[in-house]
Amino acid sequence: MAFLLFSCFIFFFPVFAQTQPTNFIFNGFNGSESSFTLDHGASISRPSGALQLTNKSRYTIGHAFYSEPIQILQGDQSSSSSSFSFSTTFVLAIVPSSSGRGGHGLAFTLSPSKQFPGAQAGHYMGIFNPENDGSPSNHIFAVEFDTVNGHNDGADSDGNHVGINNNSMNSIVSRSASYYINNTEKMEDMVLESGDRIQAWIEYDGNHVNVTICPLNISKPSKPLISYPIDLTPFLQNTMYVGFSASTGEKSSSHFILGWSFSTNGTAPVLDISKLPMPPSKEKDQSSYDRRVIGLIAALSTVTVLLLGILVYFTLYKRNVRSENLEDWELDCPHRFRYKDLHAATKGFKQSEIIGVGGFAAVYKGVLPATGTEVAVKKITQTQSTSHGLREFVAEIESLGRLRHKNLVYLQGWCKKKNDLLLIYDYIPNGSLYSLLYDQKHGFVLSWGQRFNIVKGIAAGLLYLHEEWELVVVHRDVKSSNVLIDADMNARLGDFGLARLYDHGTDSHTTNVVGTIGYMAPELARNGKASTSSDVFAYGVLLLEIVSGRKPVDSRNFFLVDWVMECHQMGRIVDAVDTELSSSYVMEEVKVVLLLGLLCAHPKPEIRPSMREIVRYLNGDERLPCIDNWDSFDSTDGNYSMFLETISSHTITKSYRSSSTDGISSSSINTGR
Ligand SMILES: *[C@@H]1O[C@H](CO)[C@@H](O)[C@H](O)[C@H]1NC(C)=O
Ligand SMILES: *[C@@H]1O[C@H](CO)[C@@H](O)[C@H](O)[C@H]1NC(C)=O
Ligand SMILES: *[C@@H]1O[C@H](CO)[C@@H](O)[C@H](O)[C@H]1NC(C)=O
Ligand SMILES: *[C@@H]1O[C@H](CO)[C@@H](O)[C@H](O)[C@H]1NC(C)=O
Ligand SMILES: *[C@@H]1O[C@H](CO)[C@@H](O)[C@H](O)[C@H]1NC(C)=O
Ligand SMILES: *[C@@H]1O[C@H](CO)[C@@H](O)[C@H](O)[C@H]1NC(C)=O
Ligand SMILES: *[C@@H]1O[C@H](CO)[C@@H](O)[C@H](O)[C@H]1NC(C)=O
Repeated sequence: MAFLLFSCFIFFFPVFAQTQPTNFIFNGFNGSESSFTLDHGASISRPSGALQLTNKSRYTIGHAFYSEPIQILQGDQSSSSSSFSFSTTFVLAIVPSSSGRGGHGLAFTLSPSKQFPGAQAGHYMGIFNPENDGSPSNHIFAVEFDTVNGHNDGADSDGNHVGINNNSMNSIVSRSASYYINNTEKMEDMVLESGDRIQAWIEYDGNHVNVTICPLNISKPSKPLISYPIDLTPFLQNTMYVGFSASTGEKSSSHFILGWSFSTNGTAPVLDISKLPMPPSKEKDQSSYDRRVIGLIAALSTVTVLLLGILVYFTLYKRNVRSENLEDWELDCPHRFRYKDLHAATKGFKQSEIIGVGGFAAVYKGVLPATGTEVAVKKITQTQSTSHGLREFVAEIESLGRLRHKNLVYLQGWCKKKNDLLLIYDYIPNGSLYSLLYDQKHGFVLSWGQRFNIVKGIAAGLLYLHEEWELVVVHRDVKSSNVLIDADMNARLGDFGLARLYDHGTDSHTTNVVGTIGYMAPELARNGKASTSSDVFAYGVLLLEIVSGRKPVDSRNFFLVDWVMECHQMGRIVDAVDTELSSSYVMEEVKVVLLLGLLCAHPKPEIRPSMREIVRYLNGDERLPCIDNWDSFDSTDGNYSMFLETISSHTITKSYRSSSTDGISSSSINTGR
């Protein structure tokens, strides 16, 4: 009867029916086969009632989707009331192979279909394949719980992470699996493939996606692990399916979901932990083998491992002593490439493979022999041995290797040989912003749309470095030659050679003044302290540079900041716009960027906005403060040209070298340390 009434309801009020919310809860999946579409390796285990996505076979896939579609109310674009939101919580367990480390992971997935034809296992997690990876026609949103390094690019290369993916296996944001301890900024690490039950929450309110994870015996942390601003509606379809996909690769784990609730109206129902099934434990898994066989295997393996260990030790020891000079403090660092491979990748550091040169460094394009991946190899030749600086630097590499954001150039690894330090980065096809702005040989002019997108991209990258990562990273050398432009004309901030890491909340300590003339904040000359606000200063100069197409300083006593300020004071700020753009730009956007550039390049650090505010100004979420209240730049210490005269000549010589490089900044080691 209720069903009949319900159908009538749908019949008479089709508009209403479309917006029926989806709301369900499964505390274990006993007897709920009919609610799910399971395929490939996925099944509901009996008698435990756990939803198993994959077993431990290699290269398998499993899909489990809620049978009924969910409705995404898209409405017409003009009505802001039609916002889609959802909330979900589930408990997952990833049980690695008995042999030790397992492989690949699972993803909470919103997809227009329950079928994924051609989807591949391993890195593609049963959702994508090399052909459709990254294509906007996928209409897929996923939150991945990945346990393995990515195979072809830097984007996923930290194992054990949680990431948000939009039509692609390259996460738009990802973080190591961990959670915030309530009321602190402290984080506790978690191991996804521990076999333990882990609770996850994914919440989307129309503006942000929040992802939170924590062990089952802890209640939900108040601060999410990831809170990412994104509007999902433009690329979801009206009818979507919700579920899980998992895959294994060369190494394998079995993937389980033990309970799940989901809602498109309000918070997902709370799971009853006491009712949830347990995943099989690791020991139980081996029970099919005879104990004595296991004993024998274990003994044999131990002997083999020992022998191998001795062999490896001697090979490495000999090789290092002879050629690579591995020092004790270097041993812990990951991402260390073999010199041999880099030599092969760059055809023996052939002159023809050079894509950029700087004072102390040359950058080569290379193709890694093992994977065929294109990389940029920066070779820094040290004039004098600065072992101390190098040691600190290598310690940083480990941290820098974990930075991951779509607007950053990913540092894949490093290598050291004699006096050469090699840094391996993602290869970015379109070169640097500097060369796009000033190299006539490109024969094309960046459009305003492209420039504005680049301005926003750099802001997103800096915001991540300053506020969104676990430590505060001050870039210290923001400038146009350190901004690379990828194939989609998005900005990727590179060269963290000068970056220093500070724990959130602690003050930066005084170090040598580093940076590039024209981008250096005045207070750097006084106290030498690089800070997030000195990065903001450099970003401000960069904004003016991008709009005007003019270098920050040139030989004829031209100072970009002062010049734009003069234009503004004369009420003709638009005079500063690059003449190459003629009049094809959006007046409002140009004004915001120029005024924001001036605000960021304000001589007083306390007046400069934070990167978060900058992003809000650029998105038009907040209006820029009134410009007429600013102090005049002509006050004695405010004028940028005055500052340049007072800065020590020593610094200028050092910095001038880096600014003179074409497209590539020079080594941090020699200029900075
Ligand atoms: C694991 O699942 C695959 C299907 O994905 C199946 O072909 C295989 O037989 C299963 N292996 C075991 C040991 O159950
Ligand atoms: C699931 O159902 C089976 C019988 O079909 C029962 O033996 C088992 O105890 C149930 N498990 C849970 C967790 O309720
Ligand atoms: C999501 O994907 C679509 C299509 O690939 C793209 O246009 C959009 O910019 C992406 N959104 C974000 C925030 O990356
Ligand atoms: C996401 O997290 C942020 C920061 O903690 C919070 O302000 C926001 O309300 C959260 N949104 C949702 C949908 O939970
Ligand atoms: C949760 O369990 C882990 C081990 O399973 C234990 O180390 C930890 O102390 C527990 N935490 C709480 C709050 O009970
Ligand atoms: C963390 O804070 C939230 C909200 O304030 C609370 O519900 C939760 O119980 C707290 N968790 C712990 C482990 O104290
Ligand atoms: C969401 O909708 C369901 C019916 O589809 C209803 O039972 C539930 O109370 C609603 N929840 C909220 C929070 O409105």
